[in-house]
Amino acid sequence: MVPKKDLLGIEKLTSKDISQYLDLADEFVKVLERPIPIVPALRGKTILTLFFEPSTRTQISFSIAAKRLSADVVNFSRATSSVTKGETLLDTALNIEAMKVDGVIVRHSACGAATFLAQQLEAFIINAGDGCHEHPTQALLDLMTMKQHFNDFKNLKVLIIGDISHSRVARSNIFGLKTLGAEVAVCAPPTLIPLEIEKLGVTIFYNLDEIIGDFDVIMALRIQLERQKTSLFPSVREYRTLYGLTKERAARMKPKSIIMHPGPTNRGIEIDPDVADSNKSVILEQVKNGVAIRMAILFIHAGGKIE
Ligand code: CP
Repeated sequence: MVPKKDLLGIEKLTSKDISQYLDLADEFVKVLERPIPIVPALRGKTILTLFFEPSTRTQISFSIAAKRLSADVVNFSRATSSVTKGETLLDTALNIEAMKVDGVIVRHSACGAATFLAQQLEAFIINAGDGCHEHPTQALLDLMTMKQHFNDFKNLKVLIIGDISHSRVARSNIFGLKTLGAEVAVCAPPTLIPLEIEKLGVTIFYNLDEIIGDFDVIMALRIQLERQKTSLFPSVREYRTLYGLTKERAARMKPKSIIMHPGPTNRGIEIDPDVADSNKSVILEQVKNGVAIRMAILFIHAGGKIE
């Protein structure tokens, strides 16, 4: 059983913990296929999505997941809140908790923001992305998608391409994949690879063309220009030339391999439009799985009941 009140990261989860989320998500896939895809599991619970950074997929899929479980959902966005008048993260959260919410889904630019709230609030906290630290719910939906295609993580070879240094998605996926026994490699310009990443059991490559045919899963990451303090590669054009997923590169991938991307994509930079829309791409399957996995996460952490 997942032992904690909160889901703050993948790093400390065991393979059993991860399997519990994935197995339950499979059950919710069946619920989502029904004509009326709603169960009363979280009736009477109130879930808050507290997003201090923009989001399309995570915030909407958490809202849909909570509604499918019959919870009440309240969405907070920074731009229309009293944060713009100087209110702190903690004051914002304490005021919201005073209105009796059961769970808070938080996204914030500061690493550790979710952990900080988990220490302060009685409500359960789900980390929906904290700075460059972790994005555990994205990694769980990615693992779910890989499992659907390959069934097992043993002998699975996964390559993550791009801005590894600034990517909470890469960190959470590396933790999860290594825990489940997959082989993980990263490929990027040296300036986008964090120091000592090999200590996580990851292999580093710099030349994508030499290795693209060796992997079952290729995960492209968004170049996060908003998190880079200085320019870490000469130009976006050069990045695409060396690391972009083009049609020519996709054609050299293993026959049954898949292309993943957490979104949002920079079409024409890390992935070309015809590759993002090709039959190798599972980007929209990832998004679809996001609802089921977030139903599983909410169910487990809110103490859901099968009626
Ligand atoms: N993958 C992801 O976190 O997307 P959003 O920023 O749209 O939530």
